[in-house]
Amino acid sequence: MNFKQQIAQNIGLKIEGVNFEDMITTVQDSNFGDYCIPCFPFAKILRKSPVAVAEDIQNSILPNNVIEKTQIVNGYLNFYLNKQYVIESVLKEAKVHDFYFDNQYAGQTVCFDYSSVNLAKYMHIGHLSTTIIGESIARMCEAKGYNVVRINYIGDYGTPFGKMVYAYLTWGNEEELNARGVDYLQELYVEFCKRAEDDESYEEQARYYFKKIEEKDPQIYPIYQKFIDISKLEAEELLNKLDVHFDSWKGESAYTQELPRVVDILEQKHLLSESNGAKVVDLSEFNLGVCLIQKSDGTSLYATRDIAAAIDRYNHYKFNKMMYVTAVQQKLHFEQFFKVLELLGYEFSKDLKHVYYGMFSLPSGKIASRKGKQAVLRDLMEHSFNKVYKIVENRQFAIETKESVASKIAMSALKYNALKNERIKDSVFDIENCFSFDGDTSAYMQYCYARISSILRKAGKIDMDKVDLSCLTGTEVYALAVAINNYKEKLSLALEQCEPSILCKYALDLCKLFNKFYSTQKVISDDMQDMHAKIYLLNIIKTTLKNLFKLICVDAIEEM
Ligand code: ARG
Repeated sequence: MNFKQQIAQNIGLKIEGVNFEDMITTVQDSNFGDYCIPCFPFAKILRKSPVAVAEDIQNSILPNNVIEKTQIVNGYLNFYLNKQYVIESVLKEAKVHDFYFDNQYAGQTVCFDYSSVNLAKYMHIGHLSTTIIGESIARMCEAKGYNVVRINYIGDYGTPFGKMVYAYLTWGNEEELNARGVDYLQELYVEFCKRAEDDESYEEQARYYFKKIEEKDPQIYPIYQKFIDISKLEAEELLNKLDVHFDSWKGESAYTQELPRVVDILEQKHLLSESNGAKVVDLSEFNLGVCLIQKSDGTSLYATRDIAAAIDRYNHYKFNKMMYVTAVQQKLHFEQFFKVLELLGYEFSKDLKHVYYGMFSLPSGKIASRKGKQAVLRDLMEHSFNKVYKIVENRQFAIETKESVASKIAMSALKYNALKNERIKDSVFDIENCFSFDGDTSAYMQYCYARISSILRKAGKIDMDKVDLSCLTGTEVYALAVAINNYKEKLSLALEQCEPSILCKYALDLCKLFNKFYSTQKVISDDMQDMHAKIYLLNIIKTTLKNLFKLICVDAIEEM
């Protein structure tokens, strides 16, 4: 329901060039009504005081169902809506309206480049941010009708692989590699770095083997390929547990051969210059420094591969938009290669967007990483599952298994925590409280959802078409109706700002409103008419929450 539009339609007064709907805003303090029109901008046009304009508008209001009363306060005209009308019209519309799906952008394609882990290294807690922020925004796009292409631009290229191959050939063994996979690769890498500290020849060896990989040497390339397969499998397993699934895993290595082509098109446009033997695009006139295209040893760089990948994806998917989700530290990199694409004349460069986020970490000392500074994602996931399993171990479930409940609570807590704060802010993961059934947690929301589900099971099926909504009254119901009605607007806002935290807060508020309602009104009762109306309301809340959960990557649980 668009109440702003309904109010505007009932204003008889016409002011040249003014659309009242655009002027109506929501009132924060409900003591002053629901919506208001600030009348200051009209005062000039009409040469009247804002209060006099407010009176003119007030006097012109047509007979209607939606506006209950108006009041003028300091040049604002405040509107109080007819609560019963709002409750009934919102809930009626919500029943027929498919909340999750909206075809606003049907026919348009958006590519998402996220997760994009550097292979053969552990995925750590930082990878949760790119993976889950990317997934959440991708789901928002789907809910708005976009065709979404999910791309995991894996880091499957670079000297680290030369290091690992050398280490493996020098002191590694196949049996252990087969048995321990990524753990073993990581160990080889760490050991290499340690040994290389006091022996320069190691780096040289690494470069030698990396070159062999690049040349697809028949002896060396299969080893590298095996490393890639092992670490891809590991990443895939973790991503499956997080319920994130990619359409493409085309990574950096696929674009290394594109270097001559990229150099060629840049040269044609006279954009390349030399700097100490390297080839660069000078972007200083845009305050973006220089973008490195080719190293002095003739190899490609991160930006070169990204330029090639963007062109390839445009040719392949003809996207209307492409979003890259990474940490804020890569901001300059994206600004640079977006600019280079623009200078090359690619129209699509204006449709590229870098969505960046701040640091997300564990309090120090918690789940210490096996090696390195950050917590390993697999360890964090296991720790979380075990912790939650202990909490639910002694509960009895009829529909779900204990394992599934524990896993849904644990994984959702990890995901929700990667989303709930403004993405650009640094945040510390509250591992102590994040599984609590109380507070700003996903478990609290899942508990609300399970509670609603349990009431609905108890009540049995009702005929939603035969419910008399007029028995739904009171401030709690009104607040719920207003909140439910905000769904579309919140989704649009969250997508516009690429800000999942908006939906997290919205979902949490909706749960709180439900709890308030539930603590003040009895749902199951002998008064059938009253009970059916409340069951109807609960059904709508449940659908709304289910949709919101999907958007913020929280699993809905039928019982807890
Ligand atoms: N692999 C990179 C990293 O771990 C992230 C890649 C992001 N995507 C891109 N197209 N550059 O830092």
